[in-house]
Amino acid sequence: MQDELKLLGGAMVTLALATSALVVVPHIQLSKLEAPAGLKPYTSAQLRGRESYIRNGCVYCHSQQPRDKAQAPDDKRGWGRASVAGDYFYDKPHLLGTMRTGPDLFNIGARQPSADWHLGHLYQPRAYTPGSIMPSYPYLFDIKDAAEPGDRVVNLPPGYNPAGKIVVAKQEMLDLVSYLQGLDHTYPVIAAPTPAAAAKGAAK
Ligand code: HEC
Repeated sequence: MQDELKLLGGAMVTLALATSALVVVPHIQLSKLEAPAGLKPYTSAQLRGRESYIRNGCVYCHSQQPRDKAQAPDDKRGWGRASVAGDYFYDKPHLLGTMRTGPDLFNIGARQPSADWHLGHLYQPRAYTPGSIMPSYPYLFDIKDAAEPGDRVVNLPPGYNPAGKIVVAKQEMLDLVSYLQGLDHTYPVIAAPTPAAAAKGAAK
């Protein structure tokens, strides 16, 4: 009995320590977090686009977390400054991602603001990046003989339109592109101190 009690006690202490370190302390640290001045809330179209981004599995190939210079050359790749906690203020759930089969998209709206480019690329990635392994999303477009009033016709590079037809983006696709265009976290923030700078500050 003595041993079982020790085992149980040890397990409880370990669990309590882990819960404090991984849940309680981060919660206290982040509870007073505010949105950076430059961060705009999502529009309703962008929120619908975000749902579509999740539904279509974009998050499995694209991260949204440019890293610090010390960890990866993300700034040299053109993906932007290292993200800070406040950048994710409006993101529920966050879409940090764990895989980088494709480029990080946290600043794609700044890097590629053209709706035409996004629409065409999502219809056929290989029309823009030869040999791209990104899937195409044809079910988010209609193929029509002629445009009707209000249709958003996609301007594809020569040779990529179905013969004699036009490609029209569905509302879900327009929302998705609006979300991508809004992914712009290039505003300035106070960067989290590097471990070296923090140590220096503490020594003062
Ligand atoms: C199987 C992995 C995969 C999936 C799933 C995927 N992508 Fe990609 N994506 C890539 C790769 C690889 C590239 C780089 C080649 C290219 O430009 O096509 C890329 C490129 C991009 C780019 C251009 C990035 C840049 O810096 O130029 C955008 C925008 C993009 N993807 C959006 C999306 C969206 C939105 C979805 C979901 C609807 C999606 N991707 C799903 C792999 C993927």
